[in-house]
Amino acid sequence: MALKITVIGTGYLGATHAAAMAELGFEVLGLDVVPEKIEMLKRGEVPMYEPGLEELLRKHVAGIEGSSGRLRFTMDWAEVGEFGDVHFVCVNTPQKHGEYACDMSYVDAAFESLAPHLHGPALVVGKSTVPVGSADRLAARLAALAPAGEDAELAWNPEFLREGFAVNDTLHPDRIVVGVRSERAEKLLREVYATPVTAGSPFVLTDFPTAELVKTSANSFLATKISFINAMAEVCEAADGDVVKLAEAIGHDERIGKKFLRAGIGFGGGCLPKDIRAFMARAGELGADQALTFLREIDSINMRQRGQMVELAREALGGGSFLGKRVAVLGAAFKPDSDDVRDSPALNVAGQIHLQGGQVTVYDPKGMDNARRLFPTLAYADSAIEAVRGADVVLHLTEWREFRELDPAVLGEAVTTRLILDGRNALDPEVWRRAGWTYRAMGRPKA
Ligand code: UDX
Repeated sequence: MALKITVIGTGYLGATHAAAMAELGFEVLGLDVVPEKIEMLKRGEVPMYEPGLEELLRKHVAGIEGSSGRLRFTMDWAEVGEFGDVHFVCVNTPQKHGEYACDMSYVDAAFESLAPHLHGPALVVGKSTVPVGSADRLAARLAALAPAGEDAELAWNPEFLREGFAVNDTLHPDRIVVGVRSERAEKLLREVYATPVTAGSPFVLTDFPTAELVKTSANSFLATKISFINAMAEVCEAADGDVVKLAEAIGHDERIGKKFLRAGIGFGGGCLPKDIRAFMARAGELGADQALTFLREIDSINMRQRGQMVELAREALGGGSFLGKRVAVLGAAFKPDSDDVRDSPALNVAGQIHLQGGQVTVYDPKGMDNARRLFPTLAYADSAIEAVRGADVVLHLTEWREFRELDPAVLGEAVTTRLILDGRNALDPEVWRRAGWTYRAMGRPKA
């Protein structure tokens, strides 16, 4: 009989994982502790913008016409405990307030709530990004709290999905990493992932600490790549070089690769910044802090980019104060194809200029509601053209396709001054310059 799967926590990761598991043919029950989220999901609606996710949900959520009916949602822990053979824990692990370490309270609460309802054999699979050593501790907690005792087993299976590509990354993962302690756990997870493994996804079997570390080290490597190229942008800026050409040239070396070498205002979002900080904090606890001191530099290079963008704008406006200057900001989400504004470099830059007296108007294709909630004092416009109307300078801060397709001639009619600063090195300088704009970006020649 097909395995029954539960998914605990239906945020980005959980909602996508639940829909993907239903797509793979399993009966799935999703649980969240936020009633509004569950109500939305039951109607086949997604609480965030993620391309393709709503379609996938609607294809499987029970009660929706024409759906497979394989996916249901609940708030009842007993029902979840009763239902599942495999329970995926997908709750978030944010940064602790005022500390680098990650806040494990949602993960701990999920285990405390689930375990007492595990009366028979069950595999609990952690997917959340956690400090190394957590799985060991949670395995013991599980065995102590579950009526099934040792039959309630733990595995660790980190998730590498990117926002904006979550559905594809979940259905066709570039690797599946599972930390297990028994053949039974391995067998169950091979069954869960049989379809992507047959399609070619590598299945990497590890112990608990390695599985946990794969995730944080992968994100640290990605963060390092971005800060590396941003450091090169600073040097190019000083030496009058072109960081985009430089990235292209070094990217031809297969050992380096082209991806994640886009210089600009740096990384943000709900993962990279907090993951590298939590990693440093954990290494400190383990007495291995020296190994990760370089991440401190990666973090500060990244944060410096935001300030440099503000200074580039100030300089472009004549070097004085922002008072009375109209600044149009294109982009609020931390990256394109997402409505997520958590630790968004774009909003950070917009906020800094606003706090220094600039009249900032923001437009983002999908991130407007979240941006308004986080930064209610900024002005918002309903379109790019409305945002730039009367602007003394336009800042391109999230590289949405919509912005790349803007017609510089049309925008030029709306602004006061044809001055664009590309914080993502994603626009074609020639196209903008031909239309009479001054184009500037960090680490690129001035004309
Ligand atoms: C990341 C990891 O990629 C993913 O594997 C993990 O599971 C979660 O964290 P995500 O946060 O969705 O995913 O975003 P990602 O695509 O990695 O981008 C992170 C940030 O880096 C964005 O703000 C993006 O704009 C920035 N970035 C990315 C750059 O500044 N330059 C680049 O070249 C690439």
